[in-house]
Amino acid sequence: MNKLIVVLLLALFPLSAWAAEHGVTLDKVDVDLSDKAALQDGARTFANYCMGCHSAKFQRYERVADDLDIPHDVMLENLVFTGAKIGDHMKIGMQAQDAKTWFGAAPPDLTLVARVRGEDWLYSYLRSFYADPSRPYGVNNKVFPNVGMPNVLAGLQGNQVIGCKQVQTVVEGKRQFDPLTGTPLTHEACDQLTVEPNSGTLAPEQFDEKVKNLVTFLAYSANPVKLESQRIGTYVLLYLAVFFVFAYFLKREYWKDVH
Ligand code: HEC
Repeated sequence: MNKLIVVLLLALFPLSAWAAEHGVTLDKVDVDLSDKAALQDGARTFANYCMGCHSAKFQRYERVADDLDIPHDVMLENLVFTGAKIGDHMKIGMQAQDAKTWFGAAPPDLTLVARVRGEDWLYSYLRSFYADPSRPYGVNNKVFPNVGMPNVLAGLQGNQVIGCKQVQTVVEGKRQFDPLTGTPLTHEACDQLTVEPNSGTLAPEQFDEKVKNLVTFLAYSANPVKLESQRIGTYVLLYLAVFFVFAYFLKREYWKDVH
């Protein structure tokens, strides 16, 4: 039995070692699928900044328009740049083979990417590009090292650089303070991302919000029924609440004679 446990632990070991080696800390994002304004903004960013290279081919424009309360004509005018019709799937013109030649890797379809990678990963990835002149497009990514994708949101975010700076020391999720003076304890860390001030069109909080909305859209896209099930779920709970009242009085009525 003990041997079996050892074998099992050994089998798990390479996985944990891999996870530790590639373990960058991801920033948490809390997406709200019922926030229509966020979803609409995310859809606009996706169409404008991502669909040059990435498709969402398991999704139709019409479904997105209807789910997100976007009128069909507004959708066609502002979010469809390929001459596609409202009932078409969200495909793109770029050929995978060409893309491979240009970027070294074909941009994958993004319909389900939020399920594959997770929302925190996407939120962190899209905010983690930094200047690296040794790369073909002059950028690298802290979350996805040596990625083939250029930093398409650089105009909004500005120039992000990596380097050393003083950061507050955190042990097991708790910020550390000097016990005598109460001042925060800091140390130098050398993989820190900093945006050069005023180099992008959005302020840092606005940029984070933009990316959050985009991730909200990708989360919806990976699970469009979730929006519907949340709505239906509310009705089901209301129904159960009302039903409970009737069931309770009915039970009282039946048991009256038994006691
Ligand atoms: C100029 C083309 C281009 C544009 C525009 C672009 N990407 Fe990419 N993207 C790529 C390429 C190429 C890859 C594959 C990189 C690799 O594997 O090295 C990629 C990879 C990704 C990945 C990683 C997928 C995975 O699971 O491996 C995500 C997520 C992603 N892109 C999201 C986006 C989003 C969101 C946008 C819009 C803000 C966007 N991309 C715009 C070219 C592009």
